[in-house]
Amino acid sequence: MGHWVDSNSPFSSYFGLLVLLIVFCCANGCDLFTGKWVLDPSYPLYSASACPFVQKEFSCQKNGRQDLGYTQYRWQPLDCSLTRFDGLKFLQKFRGKSIMFVGDSLSLNQWQSLTCMLHSAVPTARFNITRVNDVSTFVFPDFDVKVMLDRSVYLVDVVREKIGRVLKLDSIQSGKLWKGIDMLIFNTWHWWYRRGPTQPWDFIEYQGVIKKDMDRMQAFEIALNTWAGWVDANVDPSKSLVFFQGISPSHYNGTLWGEPKAKSCLGQKQPLLGTTYPGGLPPPVHVVKRVIGKMKRLATLLDITLLSLLRKDGHPSIYGLTGSTGLDCSHWCLAGVPDTWNELLYNLIL
Ligand SMILES: *[C@@H]1O[C@H](CO)[C@@H](O)[C@H](O)[C@H]1NC(C)=O
Ligand SMILES: *[C@@H]1O[C@H](CO)[C@@H](O)[C@H](O)[C@H]1NC(C)=O
Repeated sequence: MGHWVDSNSPFSSYFGLLVLLIVFCCANGCDLFTGKWVLDPSYPLYSASACPFVQKEFSCQKNGRQDLGYTQYRWQPLDCSLTRFDGLKFLQKFRGKSIMFVGDSLSLNQWQSLTCMLHSAVPTARFNITRVNDVSTFVFPDFDVKVMLDRSVYLVDVVREKIGRVLKLDSIQSGKLWKGIDMLIFNTWHWWYRRGPTQPWDFIEYQGVIKKDMDRMQAFEIALNTWAGWVDANVDPSKSLVFFQGISPSHYNGTLWGEPKAKSCLGQKQPLLGTTYPGGLPPPVHVVKRVIGKMKRLATLLDITLLSLLRKDGHPSIYGLTGSTGLDCSHWCLAGVPDTWNELLYNLIL
């Protein structure tokens, strides 16, 4: 496993400080996450048809979406400009290293986006995608770079026991898969309010007490603290970078973006072009900020919520997994909004 900084180098002691500056100050003192969307015909960063491995749920054009304006917006921070994503440079920087996304289908969305962005930068380079249990691995053998995805919708464990499936808020055994990875990007949120037949657990356990249910926001915060404790105890900040993807917003209520008649993202062809979202930030954002703010080791929040809130036009709607029988305003078309999440990630690690 490669090291970010030679631990004998005098630079290593400053590495923490450097990361600290990135976390609390952002790139060159510019807040990358405050800004607006601007039309830029040099986008998208890749053509969707150049990524044969993108899953159906994100393949909006293949599924029949005809308006493509949503692929041509660039995120413009208020006080600086983003450096355009350079896939070759990214692969060279990560030579011999491993990257892992951990989380639910929004992590899948960002993982597929990044592998597209890299593949389209080196279209003739070999690649190989394999899956073992919950871990998918995209390898660029010529660069010795692995980009992985561990599907773990709660980050904490769900264990099958005699009484049924138990969501264990203070257990995170799956963390053993994350050790030694050079860059980790975590996410969890969308499954915390699931109820009924698609809720993948029967009981919830915390501090040895098993309950049928509890306040879901509170459960989310406890689990996030368990995750933060895992990072603090298991990640060496001089060797690995840790990000939290942030809360990816959905668009099922037009009142929140000033269009009360809209009941979903269906038919939305343009982003909001201002710098604020009328409906405000979703409540879990505050939980995420509180938990990350008190961590000992460094995890950087990839604070994608506001910029994604502005992108009511970026979802598959009826051009997703189940076509016109579905209405997906949670995931994102590719090419599309997650490419910007990765471009921001790139700017934070340049
Ligand atoms: C892809 O990787 C798997 C697992 O390492 C390996 O068994 C397989 O031969 C590889 N396929 C190609 C085409 O390189
Ligand atoms: C949409 O949001 C508004 C403002 O928060 C709220 O009053 C309304 O109940 C919401 N509508 C639905 C269908 O959830």
